[in-house]
Amino acid sequence: MRKIVVCGNWKMNKTVSESVQLAKEVVAAAQGVDKAVIAIAPTFLAAAKVADVLAGTNVKLAVQDIHFADQGAFTGKVSVDMAKDIGVEMVILGHSEQRQYFGETDELINKKVVKVLEAGLTPIVCIGETLEEREGGKLEDVLTTQLKGAYAGVSEADAAKTVVAYEPVWAIGTGVTATDEQAQDTQAYVRSVLKDLYSEALAESVSIQYGGSMKPGNAAGLLSQTDIDGGLIGGASLDAEMFLGVVKAAP
Ligand code: 13P
Repeated sequence: MRKIVVCGNWKMNKTVSESVQLAKEVVAAAQGVDKAVIAIAPTFLAAAKVADVLAGTNVKLAVQDIHFADQGAFTGKVSVDMAKDIGVEMVILGHSEQRQYFGETDELINKKVVKVLEAGLTPIVCIGETLEEREGGKLEDVLTTQLKGAYAGVSEADAAKTVVAYEPVWAIGTGVTATDEQAQDTQAYVRSVLKDLYSEALAESVSIQYGGSMKPGNAAGLLSQTDIDGGLIGGASLDAEMFLGVVKAAP
């Protein structure tokens, strides 16, 4: 049985004090909920204080990116060890906003995936196509290239410790969700690529999240699909009740 993993990606939202408050609300709402692995990813600035709120609870701490180097002259960056030291367990990598606005390449994402795995943390590897790519018939090529790039040189044993997040770029923050069928078909394809890269056993064991305007109203339909094993939630994760509404919609 694959794990259902639901992670809130707070993106560049919430001050530190607001983050602590929201984290407290998430912890309260998540009490006793065991349907899914639950995680939240605040900003780096708020992460250490949010860590204190999450300690000893069923909500894990995630961050939204990481640098691949151990330490040193990398202005503006945060290392894996720094994240691990405060209790970070999961790291979102290759988000489309990083790719789109900050020029992140598959090669760079791969370095980060390797580093996060080395540290024993869980990478959430984000992939997804633009509307232009989908309409241009390039969906499968784009996803295959992103997956091959992110997993280059990663052993099957390590790949088994990753989570994939399929986030169609056209569904992020737009209010337009992929239909249950579109998401299912695409995620089945993603799983088939993992099978080609590794094995059927590996492909069957990796949780694949859906992300893109997921909220309580559409979560049940999406999460009931065979190849959708959770969600990466943006906007709806900024409200504890809505976020837990998604978690509770899991079958
Ligand atoms: P929204 O849920 O706001 O569409 O964002 C999805 C996302 O990008 C999560 O990483």
